[in-house]
Amino acid sequence: AIAQAGGSQLINFAFLPAAAATGPVPNISSDYQYDVLIPWGTPLQPGGPVYDGNPATRPTAEQQTQQVGIGHDGMWLFPIGTGNDHGILAINHEYGTNQHVLGKEVPASLEDVRLSQHAHGVSVVEIKKTNGKWQVAKSNKSRRIHGNTPVTFSGPAAGSALLKTTAGNAPLGTLNNCSNGKTPWGTYLTCEENFNGYFGATGQWTRSPAQARYGFSAAGAGYGWHLFDPRFDLSNPSYKNEENRFGWVVEIDPMNPAQTPVKRTALGRFKHENAELVIGKSKRAVVYMGDDERFDYIYKFVSDGNWRLMQARGISPLDQGKLYVAKFNDDGTGNWLELTIDNPVLKAKFADQAEVLTYTRLAADALGATRMDRPEWIAAAPNGDIYCTLTNNTQRTAPDAPNPLAPNPFGHIIKWRDRNNHVGLTFKWDIVVLAKDTHSIEKSAFGSPDGLWGDPDGRLFIQTDGNQPTVNGVQLNDQMLVADPNTDEIRRIFSGVTGSEVTGITVTPDRRTMFVNLQHPGDGDPSVTNFPAPQGSGRVPRDSTIVITRKNGGIIGS
Ligand code: FEO
Ligand code: CA
Ligand code: CA
Ligand code: CA
Repeated sequence: AIAQAGGSQLINFAFLPAAAATGPVPNISSDYQYDVLIPWGTPLQPGGPVYDGNPATRPTAEQQTQQVGIGHDGMWLFPIGTGNDHGILAINHEYGTNQHVLGKEVPASLEDVRLSQHAHGVSVVEIKKTNGKWQVAKSNKSRRIHGNTPVTFSGPAAGSALLKTTAGNAPLGTLNNCSNGKTPWGTYLTCEENFNGYFGATGQWTRSPAQARYGFSAAGAGYGWHLFDPRFDLSNPSYKNEENRFGWVVEIDPMNPAQTPVKRTALGRFKHENAELVIGKSKRAVVYMGDDERFDYIYKFVSDGNWRLMQARGISPLDQGKLYVAKFNDDGTGNWLELTIDNPVLKAKFADQAEVLTYTRLAADALGATRMDRPEWIAAAPNGDIYCTLTNNTQRTAPDAPNPLAPNPFGHIIKWRDRNNHVGLTFKWDIVVLAKDTHSIEKSAFGSPDGLWGDPDGRLFIQTDGNQPTVNGVQLNDQMLVADPNTDEIRRIFSGVTGSEVTGITVTPDRRTMFVNLQHPGDGDPSVTNFPAPQGSGRVPRDSTIVITRKNGGIIGS
């Protein structure tokens, strides 16, 4: 089984011992080194307003629009020149709690709400390596996209009444930008995950079945935006349907600061984790996507045609195509079930394709898709295998073949191979590793796999979020490990700080620099860690990007 073996030719670094994979600062393999880049509050332009973590001097809402946000998650480096020392980093800001961002549990004013909204979204920031150190560069491309940035809709649901409010307010903002994707035409995809938590109700509100399926509640997740911003008040009739404007995959052109971010409705509305785009048969754009909730689904989108030819005709490959949901059969085969209004089962329940896409989860329920243990990232390996992390599911009581543990507190990784070069209707699948099976092996022990990336040599990078095992008496922090699927070996390379997840992964084109993120260090609590400020400084811990290099200048993971 994976993790037991040794002798990998792909991964030859000294593993980070369990005893070192803990504490208030990051730790890394003795063959590697790390540096810190763009913590929350870094000015987008050199000389701009700085937030340094001082709990007494929070940024204003206006200053936050000129700064890197909080909750660093998925990201991608778009090269400038060779890209090995210069590029545009597009980085998601998934979330920050009120306690972390504002220093209080409940917002006391619209200004507080705006600060929180502006800390969310995406940063597009130009970075450059100068004198051996990556830094923010002066740029005419850097920009912040946040909870109040104008956005637009495209694809089959774009004109739907389900995306219009009575107030007639223009669509604004992207929220809970978890993980990401990137396209061969040079754009960034940012995925909206737990958007339901930003909405609440100040008055009488009856939850619709669709609102229930997407997890909306009167209290929300504690942000309290609805207390001061009626757009997020589910009980305000003027803003009915505002909640349908979130839960999409959003396309951003990192090289064009004037571009309006586009929500691509053909990819469906659910709690999008990431969007792994591969080129399938006949040069179609195929996007694999997970819906991260207990018992939710795995999807793929297939463009109608060759992506280059569609673009040449002025059509986005992400606007016209078919959306499928996965059914994993117990015999190791699987089926892709198309979510189309032409299916009589859906025709009986939905008015049109726009409704199918807006309430994707309900359509997938109707087709009998397989309820998975929280699908997080999906990553393509160079041999055509597709991997998906199933992070954990403490509420599973009935095991099935693709989710064989009940309960499943540490998660697992599954893979599949499409029968027809990513455009097929069937696939074969297999379990790669049950995280609990790694716990007796010091170099490999992990739980709650989340971030995932396959490099061109076949290495698989695994990042964790949440429940980690105790090894040799040490409660491990969240971490990053490297797997060699050829030899089934897994080795720990990096650990984050207490209370942070490790997420987001991108490399320079030469793969000699890797960027990963520490999200919610110390869960925002300065008594746990002051990272990246020195321990004991009293500073609020700040989400940061970590720059990783091999001491001998080698390829990361080697
Ligand atoms: Fe934002 Fe499912 O992780
Ligand atoms: Ca995640
Ligand atoms: Ca997670
Ligand atoms: Ca997270």
